[in-house]
Amino acid sequence: MSEQAGKPFLYVVVCAAGIAAGVGKLIGAAQERGWEVGVIATPVAMNGFFDTAAVEALTGRPIRSAWRTPGDPRPFPPPDAVVVAPATFNTVNKWAQGLADTLAVATLCEAPGLGVPIAALPCVADALAAHPAYQESLARLRGMGVRFGEPYSGDPQPDGGRPEFGWERALDLLDMR
Ligand SMILES: Cc1cc2nc3c(=O)[nH]c(=O)nc-3n(C[C@H](O)[C@H](O)[C@H](O)COP(=O)(O)O)c2cc1C
Repeated sequence: MSEQAGKPFLYVVVCAAGIAAGVGKLIGAAQERGWEVGVIATPVAMNGFFDTAAVEALTGRPIRSAWRTPGDPRPFPPPDAVVVAPATFNTVNKWAQGLADTLAVATLCEAPGLGVPIAALPCVADALAAHPAYQESLARLRGMGVRFGEPYSGDPQPDGGRPEFGWERALDLLDMR
C-alpha cells in the first residue's frame, strides 16, 4: 500500500460524459470501503461535466488533469487500483491504441503495466458502441486484464427516465480475483 495513513490509494479517472456529474457517489462509496481517492479528469471533463470544487472537498486533494512540470513532486502516491468511470468512447479507443495525449489516458495506459486491478464503467451510446473500433478496443483492453462493467448507453428509457449508473460496480470489479 502506498498511502502513509495505511489506506490503499485509488485513482478515479473521470471522462467527459454527462453522467460524470454523479461521480461523487463513486468517491463516497470508495471511501466507505476504505480507499483513499485521487481524481484524474480529462481536460474536457474539467469543463463543466462535474462539480470540481465538491470533488476536491470530498477527496481533500486537487483534481489532476494536466501533467506536472518536471521539477514538481508527484501529487499522488502510486495507485493500488485504478477505476475509470464514466469511460467515454473517445478515451476507451485512445487507451486501447496507446494514444496517451491526456494525463488521464496516459494514467490508464500505464496502469496494466503496474499490475494493479483496473475497472472501467463505459457510458457509450448504443450507436457509438456499434462502431467496430470500439468493440476491438474493448476486446484488446479485456485481454490486458481490464474489468468492464455492463454496457450503459445513457439513453433515455421509453418513460423518459434513465437507468441508474451502477457506480459501485467499479468497486465490486476491483474486488474480483
Ligand atoms: C453534454 C455531453 C454529454 C456527453 N456524454 C457522452 C457520453 O455519455 N459518452 C461519450 O462517450 N461521450 C459523451 N460526450 C462526448 C464527449 O464529451 C467527447 O467525445 C469528448 O471528446 C470526450 O473527451 P474525453 O474522452 O477526453 O473525456 C458528451 C458530450 C456532451 C457535450
